[in-house]
Amino acid sequence: MHSEPKYSLAMRTLHWLVFLAVLIAVMTIEILDVFPKGSAARAALFTAHQTAGLSVLALIVLRLFARWGTRVPAPVSGPRLLERAARLTHGLLYVLMIGMPILGVLALAWGGKPIQPFGLTGLTWTLPLAQDKTLAGVARQVHESGATLVYIFVGLHATAALWHECILKDRLLRRMI
Ligand code: HEM
Ligand code: HEM
Repeated sequence: MHSEPKYSLAMRTLHWLVFLAVLIAVMTIEILDVFPKGSAARAALFTAHQTAGLSVLALIVLRLFARWGTRVPAPVSGPRLLERAARLTHGLLYVLMIGMPILGVLALAWGGKPIQPFGLTGLTWTLPLAQDKTLAGVARQVHESGATLVYIFVGLHATAALWHECILKDRLLRRMI
């Protein structure tokens, strides 16, 4: 029987775990503003944002290893321009998934604030950087602009995947499930 080319189990699992972690990072930070400054709920959501964001970084590093270590199916054939756009989008998504958590960590470190994954005091750490309000502001602004790029490119990427599934019906989505 003809079997479809698929991403490896590791790549498929890590793809959807990254998606889940990004979803949690984005939802926690967007809901945060509903709660008053200084409230426990706000602090908990910010901790969850940091934890989810750091998980994205850990998972994407594993995913890069999985990508190099396993066979990746050849791109589906289509117009050259679209193939190139897909490759560029995938590359940019990798850059964003690595860059966003690093910028978040830098914003906190330059701001003189500790990073506390899972809210556990035992896991509290910070980068050994001298406090610098200007650099903290820059890192935070680039982090915020990066978030807009995340929305745009994840949106485009997911729309393209659903276009393949619903309109082109070429079973592309099944390569990642
Ligand atoms: C892929 C991972 C991440 C994504 C997609 C992400 C996304 C976001 C978004 C959408 C915002 C709100 C921006 C706005 O106000 O317009 C934000 C704010 C912020 N994030 Fe992240 N983030 C990620 C990882 C991290 C990590 C790992 C940290 C730190 C450990 C972090 C620290 C911050 C800080 C300090 C802010 C500003 C909060 C505030 O203004 O109250 N982020 N992030
Ligand atoms: C944070 C969200 C997401 C990120 C960062 C992301 C990232 C990526 C990347 C980088 C690839 C290229 C494969 C690789 O070399 O790793 C990929 C492939 C793929 N993604 Fe996503 N993705 C996200 C969400 C989604 C969603 C929501 C869908 C479906 C609605 C989706 C469907 C697919 C499919 C079908 C492929 C395979 C494309 C192909 O074989 O050409 N992704 N994704």
